[in-house]
Amino acid sequence: MKRFTTTDRIGDIVVALPKSAELFQHYRIDYCCGGDRSLQAALDELHLPSTVTDELNALARSISDRGDDWQALTPPQLVDHIVMTHHAFLWANLPKLSELTTTILRVHGANHPELKTLHSLVGALKTELEGHLVKEETVQYPAIEAYFKDPSPETLKPALDVIRELEAEHVAAGNILKQIRELTHDFTVPEDGCGTYRKTYALLEATEKDIFQHIHLENNLLFPQLANLHSAL
Ligand SMILES: [Fe+2]
Ligand SMILES: [Fe+2]
Repeated sequence: MKRFTTTDRIGDIVVALPKSAELFQHYRIDYCCGGDRSLQAALDELHLPSTVTDELNALARSISDRGDDWQALTPPQLVDHIVMTHHAFLWANLPKLSELTTTILRVHGANHPELKTLHSLVGALKTELEGHLVKEETVQYPAIEAYFKDPSPETLKPALDVIRELEAEHVAAGNILKQIRELTHDFTVPEDGCGTYRKTYALLEATEKDIFQHIHLENNLLFPQLANLHSAL
């Protein structure tokens, strides 16, 4: 395993060492939409010590990451994994989150007016992401499949043409998630919160984690793979 330094790109670090996503999440280092920056840039921005790099290297030494070797997958295999894992998660849980935030707004909204904002943010996240998933599932992913059956610049073009748009939508979703985390004080349930409140916040946190991993696989692995195919044509 290579030794990481602060000049390494964050996205490349998570591609090489998937478990580093947990360390980055712990320090609130954005590794998906912000994966294009160097580790040093993120440390500076968040005023974090350079010892984070030591922790990263200790992690690299302590684990074998063989179970999560996404780099070994071809783009169609990676797409299969993304759809079965991350798209399935969102299709199942975005409606649940919408229902749960409506419930806690109705029950606790009088004592917790911030739940009105949370309700709007979750609504915006659901609208943004459902449109995004449909675009990927009906435009980009089928084009990737078509290209691997019949490789040509024409079959690859629809997959490449939407990359910018998809990346911008990732940023938009990431910004909504950031606002949700701030509004809920890192998903801290208030003392008078009920079981549904706890369930909502736990699912919000799980959703943030899943989306970060999802965006990382697309921004830092799938899209660069497609760009490489294009330059090899
Ligand atoms: Fe996706
Ligand atoms: Fe995406």
